[in-house]
Amino acid sequence: MRILVTGGTGYIGSHTCVELLNHGHDVIIVDNLANSKAEIVDRIEAITGQRPLFYRADATDAQAMDLIFSTHKPDGVIHFAGLKAVGESVAVPLAYYRNNLLSTIVVVESCLKHGVNRFVFSSSATVYGDQQVPFFETMELRARTNPYGETKAMCERILSDVAAVNPEFSVTLLRYFNPVGAHKSGLIGEAPEGIPNNLMPYITQVAKGILKELKVFGNDYPTVDGTGVRDYIHVVDLAEGHVVALEKASSGVHIYNLGTGRGTSVLELVKAFEEANNLRIPYSVTERRPGDIAECYADVSKAKNQLGWVAKRNVVEMCQDAWRFEQSYQVQDKRQD
Ligand code: NAD
Ligand code: UD1
Repeated sequence: MRILVTGGTGYIGSHTCVELLNHGHDVIIVDNLANSKAEIVDRIEAITGQRPLFYRADATDAQAMDLIFSTHKPDGVIHFAGLKAVGESVAVPLAYYRNNLLSTIVVVESCLKHGVNRFVFSSSATVYGDQQVPFFETMELRARTNPYGETKAMCERILSDVAAVNPEFSVTLLRYFNPVGAHKSGLIGEAPEGIPNNLMPYITQVAKGILKELKVFGNDYPTVDGTGVRDYIHVVDLAEGHVVALEKASSGVHIYNLGTGRGTSVLELVKAFEEANNLRIPYSVTERRPGDIAECYADVSKAKNQLGWVAKRNVVEMCQDAWRFEQSYQVQDKRQD
């Protein structure tokens, strides 16, 4: 199939492009480079031996999208393009609503206009809010904690409404848990600007000496050791999940959790990272981060039963691959502390 990937030079998008190419699909990337670099296209080529087509374009630009759709007539779309920083979304909500909602609307309009019936959307476990774990796809949407999460819940509703009146249209809503790790080559991975918001990139920067110590946000949660529990999933497993979801797409709305089904606490992840890489991660415990929940992990039986997909890579591999990327990324990009 010929697959249009919005946000394809980003963290999850780039890994998914690699898996799509490895599975024999053609890839067209559309990215405005708001949070990624054009050189990622070279790296995807270096890994796969195939160069995806690349357009530097904004997914909210209806004219640009129309031209790309009419030129390439894709068979399917994976829509990763979006802004994703929770704190920033609280500070500049309109930028988040504009970008995340409008890009989804524009890309879906192009799909309908050009007869593209397979649409896969990047949603998030954040739409579950604070409910009893594990999270099942049938649970109600409770994302009213920040504008970022709200855009995901709103896009899910928009896409479901569109599918309801377009019987040929297939919408797959993939709810990611906590993607971490990187491709084995060390060529692509997660490279946040500035001080990372998320745990794994923070740990790798502490390991490298860029940051002094990890701040553990609270150790008084009702969890195994008092620290927050999350369902970390290797980004390559996540990427493979997209290929399967796309290949198995059928009309209507299909929702899948993409996680491992296992929870890992902050301190367990620190320990796993130390053991996997033979390093020490200094940390201290501070206040809880506002908006955080105690536990978040998936029930993954639906993806297993209906897609035949399960996450294969364990936490040790996630830690080793994240660390390998952190080391090679610094050499290639000469990032300063
Ligand atoms: P990312 O920032 O690395 O990738 C997103 C890409 O989209 C970037 O390359 C950015 O330049 C591009 N982009 C943003 N707005 C655009 C626009 N209007 N037009 C064209 N390109 C645009 O983020 P990621 O971690 O790869 O996340 C991909 C998707 O998955 C996002 O929608 C995100 O909200 C969602 N998601 C991510 C996580 C996570 O932990 N990383 C968890 C759940 C859901
Ligand atoms: C965050 C986002 C969520 C998004 C998800 C995946 C917030 C409030 N939520 O969730 O919307 O879908 O990332 O991108 O930002 N932690 C520390 N110290 C740190 C960083 C994190 O102790 O420096 C802890 C957190 O309290 C949490 C765990 O580590 O218990 C994981 O945090 P993080 O990686 O930010 O992911 P989420 O909180 O799950």
